[in-house]
Amino acid sequence: MEESRLKVQKTAKVLYTISKIIRIILIISSVAVTALCITSMFVDNAELIEQTKEMVSFDWSIKIVEDGELNNIFSERVLIVLGTIVYIISRAVLFVYLTILGNIFADISKGGQPFTNKNSKTIFVLSLTMLVFAFVNPLLAITLLLIGLFLSHLFSYGAYLNKKAEETNHIQESMIVSFAEVVENKSEQTGKHVKRVAEYSKVLAKAMGYSDEDAEKIKLASMMHDIGKLLVPTDILEKPARLTEEEFMEIKKHPGYGVKLLSDVDGDVLILAKRIAHEHHERFDGRGYPDGLGATNISMEGRIVAVADVYDALTSKRSYKDAWEPKQAYEEIVKGSGSQFDEDVVKAFCKNYEEIENIRCTFKD
Ligand SMILES: [Fe+2]
Ligand SMILES: [Fe+2]
Repeated sequence: MEESRLKVQKTAKVLYTISKIIRIILIISSVAVTALCITSMFVDNAELIEQTKEMVSFDWSIKIVEDGELNNIFSERVLIVLGTIVYIISRAVLFVYLTILGNIFADISKGGQPFTNKNSKTIFVLSLTMLVFAFVNPLLAITLLLIGLFLSHLFSYGAYLNKKAEETNHIQESMIVSFAEVVENKSEQTGKHVKRVAEYSKVLAKAMGYSDEDAEKIKLASMMHDIGKLLVPTDILEKPARLTEEEFMEIKKHPGYGVKLLSDVDGDVLILAKRIAHEHHERFDGRGYPDGLGATNISMEGRIVAVADVYDALTSKRSYKDAWEPKQAYEEIVKGSGSQFDEDVVKAFCKNYEEIENIRCTFKD
């Protein structure tokens, strides 16, 4: 996903540069032709007049005038002025066409959404302006008209697909939030645990270099990290005392249950949710559960949610413990750097601690 977006951005940058180069050429040629036209007005040089006429008569309309009887009516100088005006107008139309198209490409190269109905309409109107240009240079005009119409339809279809994808994402999002609420209600983690872990994860993901879009996906997916608890007996989840070894073994099965519940899911966010549900209790030193993965065998998303989940568990009240002071929980996370947690994620946590604390205060139980 990220790779294909980068490719589109790179291509847009190349197309923007090409449009810029052509625009510069258009300006230079227009200035040169205007200068030639003015010179041939004042300098009596037959060769220069002939050359200038030749240059501005490139366009078809002038050729018609030149080849037909009308030629007799016009003096050569009038023909040159007329030719120059048509030359400048046609280049100006092309210049505007390329500027607007270039701006769209520039926007795409900076990460803007290319496939919008607005871009489609703009390109459609631009294509129609080529009908005016057809009087000057029909071949080029028709080519640009067809390219414009094709791009306009392509952008409109892209906008339609984007809308459909948005709808699907929205359905996916509301399903995830509903599931997360079910898990919260079932486990003793009532309140806003899921919401806080999701927000912390987003902050950490952005600090770890994920794009806004991907950080948003991690935020959503992290909401299902404890979905496996749905299959853990309620009396264990709600036990108002420390768990026995056996009960703890049962709790430790929830990452595996999570994978089972999400085994047949499809789509970016749900696949990510399955990975996070599986790995959020793994430790960086390999002493976590369910698989003792360790280090980079745990996905970065799993390592991020591990920090977010533990920080929130520590700062929240549970039936068997009081909430820790934020400072104490912060130190515990730092203490786990390189052993329980990925050092880089802990660094990101420390760097963005203020934001994380703001989230904790905003979504208090
Ligand atoms: Fe968990
Ligand atoms: Fe949790």
